[in-house]
Amino acid sequence: MMIDGLTIQEMRPGEEETVSGLVVSVFNGFVAPGYSEEGRKTFLEYVTPRAISLRRMRPTHFFLTAWVFGRLAGVIEVRDFDHVALFFIEKQHHGKGIARALLDAAVERVKRERSEKAPLTVNSSPYAVPIYRRLGFVETAGEQLTDGILYHPMSREIG
Ligand SMILES: CC(C)(COP(=O)(O)OP(=O)(O)OC[C@H]1O[C@@H](n2cnc3c(N)ncnc32)[C@H](O)[C@@H]1OP(=O)(O)O)[C@@H](O)C(=O)NCCC(=O)NCCS
Repeated sequence: MMIDGLTIQEMRPGEEETVSGLVVSVFNGFVAPGYSEEGRKTFLEYVTPRAISLRRMRPTHFFLTAWVFGRLAGVIEVRDFDHVALFFIEKQHHGKGIARALLDAAVERVKRERSEKAPLTVNSSPYAVPIYRRLGFVETAGEQLTDGILYHPMSREIG
């Protein structure tokens, strides 16, 4: 699907604050209401600009950003080239296929970086489970609770 004005690229140094702002605002709208105070705190510590900046520098880690007509619309973070750690799209852009486009770009990147055919995993928010299913993921365990974070482990073969 073609999405008007969409560009996908590697997160650049200096964009951490904008990325963090988008993630926090989407988290507050879609995920935080189902979390305990502890869960919200754990998550918000994970997505500060400094935490993002430190993870970006890891050699087996990447962030891809989606821009629509030059404005940040979404982000995907992959760690160890095999796990989706963050996946957030600005509310006004939901349902346009931007997550699918970002995931496709991330899968291409993962395939380039590693030779073995390990699956791509994610700890999905309760909200995103049906969406990850549409994106080819299946649940590998029931709902989990760690440090106040509620999640569903899911996995997808990437061929
Ligand atoms: C999960 C999220 C990133 C998806 O972003 P998106 O750009 O709206 O997703 P897409 O438009 O690419 O849709 C992907 C697929 O899911 C489907 N989908 C989208 N929203 C859906 C919804 N609310 N319910 C069911 N299916 C949905 C789409 O139809 C599409 O499937 P299709 O191509 O087979 O039709 C976005 O909803 C989001 O930011 N959610 C809040 C944060 C969150 O929970 N992130 C996950 C953290 S692990």
